[in-house]
Amino acid sequence: MENEDLVIHMQGVSVRRGKTTLVGDVDWSVELDERWVVLGPNGAGKTTLLRLAGAELHPTKGLLHLLGERIGKTDVFELRPRIGLCSAALSGRIPPDEKVGDLVVSAGYAVLGRWREEYDRLDTKRALALLGQLGIEHLADRTYGTLSEGERKRTLIARALMTDPEVLLLDEPAAGLDLGGREDLVARLSELALDPDAPATVLVTHHVEEIPPGFTHALLLREGAIVAQGLLDDVLTEENLSKTFDQPLELQKAGDRYFARRKATQG
Ligand SMILES: Nc1ncnc2c1ncn2[C@@H]1O[C@H](COP(=O)(O)OP(=O)(O)O)[C@@H](O)[C@H]1O
Ligand SMILES: [Mg+2]
Repeated sequence: MENEDLVIHMQGVSVRRGKTTLVGDVDWSVELDERWVVLGPNGAGKTTLLRLAGAELHPTKGLLHLLGERIGKTDVFELRPRIGLCSAALSGRIPPDEKVGDLVVSAGYAVLGRWREEYDRLDTKRALALLGQLGIEHLADRTYGTLSEGERKRTLIARALMTDPEVLLLDEPAAGLDLGGREDLVARLSELALDPDAPATVLVTHHVEEIPPGFTHALLLREGAIVAQGLLDDVLTEENLSKTFDQPLELQKAGDRYFARRKATQG
């Protein structure tokens, strides 16, 4: 055990596949009460970084500690229930006839490591409370296949929270949502970010518009390397954003939301 306050601790972490470096030489720490957004273009290595943080991937090089445990020396199967991971890859594996309520409740079984014939009443109550927190309690008896994309995303977040994880990892949860769906998700994630009892959170996105109010830190990633990291307002500058997305960008903050677009050319 070391650095017990650090939920995620990467020291010189790299992931290589053949001659390709997916992420290179990353130093990054996440503390219990922090809410991070990871921003970068397609292919920057965001998902790779999140899979490292989710104990789904081992570093090729460097030291990775998750929840105080060193990856490579700890049983990742014991670690994973303490981490709530939410990704499109996961969504694709869910049978369409699975009931929403059951889907959330069953996330708890991984923790207990056993199957039960009947759902524990407390588990069911907790699942409903989580669905309620995400505004979809009324969908508990619907099947996953009948949900809209936005409802699916919120179901998966409720599921990820079911085990009361110490860290919540969200890989592009707003991808594929329409404007209303995105705004609703941003509002829910903002509530979660502002809840002092909520777990440390890492949200991956490539849109600054999707940064929920209440998020505290940002990490900008380009071609597997960190462009900048630290407090959100320090890191999110036109200069850093332009470097990250490799084009001149204009950044605006309206209220507690961010907006970006390409800079108009002079003349
Ligand atoms: N198994 C693999 N072998 C080689 N390259 C890979 C592999 N997995 C991902 N990549 C590449 O690594 C880069 C980073 O991928 P990823 O972490 O998914 O980026 P992002 O989530 O930011 O879009 C991409 O260029 C991707 O094509
Ligand atoms: Mg990705």
